[in-house]
Amino acid sequence: MMLGSDMRVVVLTGAGISAESGIRTFRANDGVWENHRIEDVATPFAWERDPRLVWRFYQGRRRQLLDVNPNSAHEALVSLESYLDEFLLITQNVDDLHSRAGSEKLIHMHGELRKLRCEMCGEIIDAMDDEHLQDQYVKCVQCTNERLRPHIVWFHEMPLRMDEIYDAVGECDVFIAIGTSGHVYPAAGLLSIAKDTGAHCIGINLDPPENVILFDEFHQGLAGELVPALVTKWMSE
Ligand code: APR
Repeated sequence: MMLGSDMRVVVLTGAGISAESGIRTFRANDGVWENHRIEDVATPFAWERDPRLVWRFYQGRRRQLLDVNPNSAHEALVSLESYLDEFLLITQNVDDLHSRAGSEKLIHMHGELRKLRCEMCGEIIDAMDDEHLQDQYVKCVQCTNERLRPHIVWFHEMPLRMDEIYDAVGECDVFIAIGTSGHVYPAAGLLSIAKDTGAHCIGINLDPPENVILFDEFHQGLAGELVPALVTKWMSE
């Protein structure tokens, strides 16, 4: 495929792009994390029922960010962004590896591990200092709330910035999905929207995802190998 720099490109990434950085994907462990089903710690009901459990689960994942680094797939998407006039990277990942690699036109549709949010006053803080990464709760600096929550979109909650996402996907010429199993909606539905728009749809994943049949091109393998190679090819043809 030729990729002109004036083409509108939307990329959707999932857990698979961060796997080679050492962050485990969701479905690799049958949705189980330290004996908890993901759905049991990643819902507003779990936070209500057992906030300490949910807090410890997320503090573990937040601390892990200090030990991991972007890989060659994250880096290749930064080159792609700088080559294109109109580009949007939508990630389902809550890690910060895309931004640490240098991506700027980026939407974290499922929230960000780096941040904490106050359910009382709405304050959102970037919270990666030592004091924020302990087992005790972090208090709000703006109001009396003793317990900020992870700035994460849990199951049963609405993903962020969906209007911008639907606008970009509904107008794109090329849609590229990387490292996502196509199980979780609305993210998984973006491919069919792109397809209906007439976009050329490309998938890159270790296993054929749920919606593989909709891709015009599917590349099976490791994101860390395939993404840099394909980006170089698209930019040089
Ligand atoms: N390179 C490319 N693909 C990979 C790699 C790799 N190195 N390693 C794993 N994969 C693929 C797997 O084959 C799998 O299909 O990445 C996909 C990851 O799928 P999931 O674990 O289901 O992750 P994702 O699609 O991002 O999940 C979506 O579900 O739990 C929720 O909110 C959470 O954002 C998450 C959403």
